[in-house]
Formats: sequence, structure tokens, C-alpha cells
Amino acid sequence: MIELRDVWFSYNDREVLKGVSMEVRKEEVVILLGRNGAGKSTLLMHLNGLLRPEKGEVIVNGNPVRYDRKSLTKLRRLVGFVFQNPDDQIVAPTVWQDVVFGPENTGTRDDEKIREILRNLGLEGYENRLCNSLSGGEKKRVAIAGVLAMEPEYVVMDEPTAGVDGVGMKEIAFIVRELREEGKGMIISTHDLDFAKAVGDRFLILDGGMIIYNDAWIDYSLAERCGIRTWMSEGEVVLVPHDSCLPDGDFDFVAVMGRSAKERLEKEGIEPDINTAGMERAFLRAIGGARVMLVCSRSMMDVVRREAATYPVRLRLYEREVDEYEREGVHNRGGSGRSGAHHAERTEGH
Ligand SMILES: Nc1ncnc2c1ncn2[C@@H]1O[C@H](COP(=O)(O)OP(=O)(O)OP(=O)(O)O)[C@@H](O)[C@H]1O
Ligand SMILES: [Mg+2]
Repeated sequence: MIELRDVWFSYNDREVLKGVSMEVRKEEVVILLGRNGAGKSTLLMHLNGLLRPEKGEVIVNGNPVRYDRKSLTKLRRLVGFVFQNPDDQIVAPTVWQDVVFGPENTGTRDDEKIREILRNLGLEGYENRLCNSLSGGEKKRVAIAGVLAMEPEYVVMDEPTAGVDGVGMKEIAFIVRELREEGKGMIISTHDLDFAKAVGDRFLILDGGMIIYNDAWIDYSLAERCGIRTWMSEGEVVLVPHDSCLPDGDFDFVAVMGRSAKERLEKEGIEPDINTAGMERAFLRAIGGARVMLVCSRSMMDVVRREAATYPVRLRLYEREVDEYEREGVHNRGGSGRSGAHHAERTEGH
């Protein structure tokens, strides 16, 4: 395991990390999210000793990192680092020379293994190509191959899919999954949520110099507020518990979830547009830009709220107590019976 414990770091007087604690385990892919300049690259560079914390500790496989030359050489064999810019990484003229460079130096060269790595990254047949004649995405993959050829236990990747097309992205995702199967621990910074979701086991958000989020799913509303690139649609789901008054206003669709909610709508004489798989279909409609009222049994509210956070969709809670008068079945909407009603309306997470 790699651990950061209360790590602080600044460039000159610009404080970038303000007490970062986190860990990366073997056989795990951790995704690091954060807006431009949040400090992702700065954080990652602490993991293999490229930067040294001003305060706090980095611990790798139980040993606090030491910063003498010999310890750093050992550390860097344990923790491979794929730089944001492949030009910072590529050292030799041709692809083959570049990828064998590291293992040649450490006396661990295994040509069969290197061929397999090149094949997995779609670089078969590129062995004799000049690195400076490669496209950006190809260079990126060569840089990754060079790191993997060293067979590190942990791999840090700083925006591995930046500038890489769909085919290249899938190849990188494939190799990340393979590396996890092999037992490697990985931490990857990215602005690419498709890629993140395809490979991530855990998602961290770095904001204001701290890890403010750490969970097995992406909270889209929070991500959006942190300036992370998401695509939140204009649509929304208005979530109404079955025992609340129903909101007025225009909705493109009414969806229902749970038995109590179905009974409630029946009693109101409302025929829902979405009757089965209400939650998922409500989200999908909202992603498509629609305004959806989702009436939900109260016991299922938490499921919906949690699930909604994992979709790029806004969820607004509408909750207004039905007073006794209405509960008895006399619907006097807009009448005096409603004036004292408790009213709660808010957008999730805002
Ligand atoms: N060598 C440096 N000297 C001074 N300031 C730096 C240096 N490197 C980075 N910074 C600043 O530190 C902050 C964090 O930079 P960092 O590169 O870690 O962000 P990032 O999250 O990786 O951003 P991006 O998404 O753009 O890659 C930025 O404000 C940046 O300008
Ligand atoms: Mg960066």
C-alpha cells in the first residue's frame, strides 16, 4: 500500500496541498479528479519521491519514504510514473530502444514481456519507429510501455488518456484492468469520466488542497461544483415522497417507484407515464433534457438519492406535508388547508 499522511506542499509561497491523506492498495485502481490546477500532478509526484512533502509523510509498503539517492532509486522501481507529457518520459530515439532502456539499466530486461506490453498497447510493429515521428496518442502509449517494462508494483498515471482517441482509450483501459488483475496498485488522474468509470474502483476529488471526496462511485453534482468536466443536462428529476403533496407545474413525464407511491398516484387519479424501472427511466429522460416528477415510496428515497448522484443529472427534492384535512381524502388544493403546510424544497447537494 502507498499512503500519504497529512501531506502539505507549496511552490514558493503558493500552497497547493494542505493536508492530503489517502492510500492506494494493491489490486486497486484509484481515480484522482480535480479541476485544472487543483494539484493532481503535484500530489502524484509525491508518490514516487519526485516531490518531497514540507510536512507529513509518504509511506510505501509500510516504509516511510527516504529521500537519499539510493532510496529514491529503489522507490522508483517500486512505483512507476507515467507523466502528463510523454516528451518528459521518452529518452531514446526508437520505440524499442525507449521501452528496453529502463530494464536494460536495471538488468531485468525480458524481451518476451516487452513484446507483450507493446502488443497490449497496440504498438506491435512500431518497434523501429522514431519516437519523435509518433502522434501524441502513440507517444503516450510508448511512455506507458516504458514504465510497465520496469514491472513496478504500483503505477501512477497522470492523465493517460489526454489527447488519446477512442481506440487508444480502450487500449489503455484494457491494460489498466490487466495490471489490476496482475495485482498492481494504480492511481490515475484524469479529466475523462468515461475512462474513469471504465477502470476506477475508487474515486477521489482533490479540491482546495484537500481530498474532499473518497468513494466507490462518482458524485456528479459534487464533481460539477468542483469544476470537474461533467456533462450535466438541463433536465431534472423532482423527487417527491409518496406522502408529500405533489408539486404544481409542468412536467414532461411522471414516473413512479414503489407500491405506496403507485397507490398514492392512483388515489390522485394520475396515470404515470413511467410505471416500471421508474428510477432508471426517470434519470434517462432527465439526461435527455426532460423535467420529470418521480413519486417514490418514502422507504426508497435514499436509494434514489444515492443512485442519482452517479448519473449526470440534477435531482431536486420536493417535500410538503399533507395536512390532516387532505389526508382524509378531501382534496382542497390551494385552499386554506394548505396554508400551514411545512414546506421543504431543495436541490440535492446544493
Ligand atoms: N513548478 C511549479 N512552480 C510553481 N507553481 C507550480 C509549479 N507546478 C505547478 N504549479 C502550480 O501549482 C498548482 C497545482 O498544479 P498541478 O500541476 O499540480 O495541477 P493539476 O491538478 O495537475 O492541473 P491539470 O489538471 O491542469 O494538470 C497550479 O496552480 C500550478 O500553477
Ligand atoms: Mg496535472
